Amino acid sequence: MIIVAFVFIILCGYGAYWVAGSRRLDRATATLPMPPSLPLVGNAMFFIGSTEKILKSLKYIASLAQKHKGAVKLWLGPKLYIAIGNPEDAQVILENCLDKDEVYRFLRPWLGRGLFIAPLSLWKVHRKVLLPIFHNKVVEEYLSVISTQADVLLERIADQSGKCEFDVLKYITACTLDIVFETAMGERMDVQHTPDTPYLRARLIVMTILNKRFFKVWLQPDFIFNLTPYAKQQKENIKLTHKFTDEVVKKKRIEYEKKMAKSNSQTDINSVGQPQSVLDMLFGRDIEFTDEQLREHIDSITIAGNDTTALVIAYTFILLGIHQDAQNKVLQEQKNIFGNSKRGALKEDIFKMNYLERVIKESMRLYTVVPIISRNVHKDIYLPHSNVTVPAGTGAVVGPFAIHRLQSVWGPNANEFDPDRFLPEHSVDRHPAAFLAFSFGSRNCIGRNFGMLIMKSIISSFIRSYKIEANEVGPLKIEVLLFPINGHQIKITKRLP
Ligand code: HEM
Repeated sequence: MIIVAFVFIILCGYGAYWVAGSRRLDRATATLPMPPSLPLVGNAMFFIGSTEKILKSLKYIASLAQKHKGAVKLWLGPKLYIAIGNPEDAQVILENCLDKDEVYRFLRPWLGRGLFIAPLSLWKVHRKVLLPIFHNKVVEEYLSVISTQADVLLERIADQSGKCEFDVLKYITACTLDIVFETAMGERMDVQHTPDTPYLRARLIVMTILNKRFFKVWLQPDFIFNLTPYAKQQKENIKLTHKFTDEVVKKKRIEYEKKMAKSNSQTDINSVGQPQSVLDMLFGRDIEFTDEQLREHIDSITIAGNDTTALVIAYTFILLGIHQDAQNKVLQEQKNIFGNSKRGALKEDIFKMNYLERVIKESMRLYTVVPIISRNVHKDIYLPHSNVTVPAGTGAVVGPFAIHRLQSVWGPNANEFDPDRFLPEHSVDRHPAAFLAFSFGSRNCIGRNFGMLIMKSIISSFIRSYKIEANEVGPLKIEVLLFPINGHQIKITKRLP
């Protein structure tokens, strides 16, 4: 009896503390609009239902934000979030709030403290070490890996030439997986020829479960999730993926130690032979990473770098298929660089692909594959555009998808495809945080140069070999990343030599 009374008092105390805290946050953000809410769950009902419905809810929230000053507040159960749909406030959040939001904790069993979700203190130290490895000069060395895999893609896709529409994403994803695995780990996986391995299956299962958890609010509390069969399935499959990366790390450490014993100097090791993988370069740095840290970084890189890059290429293909004039301009630019040659792109070729770069950026603007970025607000922060001080303890959700379609930033034709809006002379007056495809501030995408290189090289090879036709992107859904509900449907025809 005494114990029950004690628990009751503790719960009441906690409840009162929570209500007082919530009231304080509510008062501090009283000037912000809020969509209709329910007691206890707040606005969580907007995030219940299919992934298409969730995207519609997000569009509604974005339109509510636009009617006010580009920001709204949302209560998701006990937590207050400020959703931001304007570049001025997005810049302030992305430059000052470098800690990821709590929602990314679902990734922790998989990615541990890898760069993508590393807590701020660790992230600061590790990002400094990883940054030079993603420098343009270093990733350019991977162009031969990229063009070899692009050639395999062209060969595999030949079956579809002259036939009806098909979903191109799975072909591109296999190609980018091969590129990202080989450059990150130094291991040739050959996913394009063997797409069904236990490792890839396990990876897909983990991603599917995580995706469910992000968008099904009832699966979010650990004590409920752990009661579902998903928890066991996730644990088993994460174990399998860890085992795979652990073995690669172990092998590479032995190779590194052998080379060290022979040469006794890092410079000697770096100077010979094939381009080094990211993993190879992580040995012998200022920080001595443990095998576990190496696995967490490599897993984070392969997960963050693959689907994103593949999706942008697939959206770009659809857009080029719809806009034949733009496709002809891309082709002309390629002919000016390569003549009739089908060779892979070299770094001097990549620099000349200015129109293609604008096309890719426009594709990323219209179909922003990372449509939401969520950060933790750790200290009170003033947002100049919406004129509100966001209190510490809230979450900030920046909406690149919404910002990329603002007429106030991109003009009355914001929803139309116009690569030339990225011409330098058309971009000078644009807000620096208006384009957020790779995020903004010091926690932006570390692989953006590498991603751009992969995208330009693959699209260059593809467009020189195939003509693309497409009708529309069609309705979209959000599954952490942005997907068309009906897939990336295109039709291809081999170009005459
Ligand atoms: C078109 C391709 C890509 C897009 C659109 C993209 C987008 C992004 C975005 C928006 C973020 C920030 C996410 C956030 O703050 O929540 C991010 C982070 C990251 N990206 Fe990319 N990315 C791409 C390609 C790549 C590639 C090729 C790699 C590496 C091979 C990569 C590795 C990473 C990593 C490790 C982070 C975490 C950085 C940190 O927290 O310091 N990405 N990416």
